[in-house]
Amino acid sequence: MRGAVSQPGTKMLICHCNIITEKEVEQTIIDLLDKDPWQLIVPAKVYHTMQKRGRCCGCFPNVVETIIRVTENYHARSQTSGVDIVSHLDRVRSLRGQYGSKHHEGRCADHRAA
Ligand code: FES
Repeated sequence: MRGAVSQPGTKMLICHCNIITEKEVEQTIIDLLDKDPWQLIVPAKVYHTMQKRGRCCGCFPNVVETIIRVTENYHARSQTSGVDIVSHLDRVRSLRGQYGSKHHEGRCADHRAA
């Protein structure tokens, strides 16, 4: 979620079901990229690495935005060729179509609590 910027010293929850902060997700993504910078990271992989699992999955669009942001920043610091990075980041950004944007929280349109 691009608009979700945590304030210094605060811990912003990204997943209320599992009580996971944005910083924990960011660090997990960096750890995964350190192991393989070219892997396609999806929310399920992040949560599996953290030994968590999606419950309502309403946080996945925000996790996708975090994956995109952290991956872009990670590769911006690398020395790899620009063509390779653009191609890889296009794949990462395509996750938005799969998991929805921040305006669609991953729930079915007919999802009702009552
Ligand atoms: S808010 Fe993350 S699984 Fe429900």
